Amino acid sequence: VAKKKSTENTINQEKNKKIDKYELYENSVQTPDVHALWFQEAYQDLNPKKKARVLREDFCGTFQISCEWVKLDKKNSAIGVDLDSEPLKYGMNHNLSQLSPHEQKRLSLLQKDVLSVKSPPADFIFAGNYSFFIFKKEELLIRYFKRCYQSLKKNGVFLLELAGGPGMIEMSEDKRVIRKPGKKSPWFTYLWEQKRFDPVSHDLECAIHFRFPNGEYLQDAFTYDWRLWTIPEIRYALSKAGFDESHIFWEGHDEKGVLTEEYHLVEKGENDYSWVAYVAGVKRKA
Ligand SMILES: C[S@@+](CC[C@H](N)C(=O)[O-])C[C@H]1O[C@@H](n2cnc3c(N)ncnc32)[C@H](O)[C@@H]1O
Repeated sequence: VAKKKSTENTINQEKNKKIDKYELYENSVQTPDVHALWFQEAYQDLNPKKKARVLREDFCGTFQISCEWVKLDKKNSAIGVDLDSEPLKYGMNHNLSQLSPHEQKRLSLLQKDVLSVKSPPADFIFAGNYSFFIFKKEELLIRYFKRCYQSLKKNGVFLLELAGGPGMIEMSEDKRVIRKPGKKSPWFTYLWEQKRFDPVSHDLECAIHFRFPNGEYLQDAFTYDWRLWTIPEIRYALSKAGFDESHIFWEGHDEKGVLTEEYHLVEKGENDYSWVAYVAGVKRKA
């Protein structure tokens, strides 16, 4: 368990504008190019010979996946949805601005609640980084899933990223040193803390902190108050919301048992200590 620095070293983010927590977040938890490439494959696993064209990225934050999606093919378009103007603004300044004018035209942003958003029909909706765990009541989860169902085209896929296993519910702090590309010296340390888990409600509190080589510490840069949903519960909620099918993508491993970071359709999962998986709801009707 990583030891925290004393509070004297804790950075007041409001005062220290040089540190942008979204830049740190993007560089520690996201691989948007990998996700965007895989989405087309996942769509085709469920719809052979068809292609997804319109992606909606829910809880999009700085919407890096949407940017990668429009870069992949000139027929692709993306819609990013997030409630908060702060990550959207960061994404406009740092990600949207890197796209060509043609790519920018194919990306739209909606500063809306995913529970009430009305968006153009999509082939593929993605809810990444466990973000739908914010809906703690089954009724809210089903309401969100219904909204997604209504926003999908025929054969549309709604993909939810989730995590689980014993490693997800124990109180722990994991750390990873992050370096800038091509640099040997550490840029910062990313810390993931699981603060509290209640086995009765399945409420889970987590936080992301960042520590810098000069000893400064950005505590609770991001905090999460979640309900840890299980795969069977999510499948039930998808069926209640009208989805015709649900499928599970699980991480593969090579002949030595090493995880490959590639996800495949499965009927059964592995009882790993901690795992990330994807549940896909499919809408077959028009
Ligand atoms: C954990 S971040 C995920 C960011 C990004 N999608 C990723 O994968 O790293 C959650 C995001 O969801 C947004 N959010 C939370 N509740 C929301 C809601 N009801 N509707 C839309 N966005 C919401 C927050 O503003 C935040 O940007």
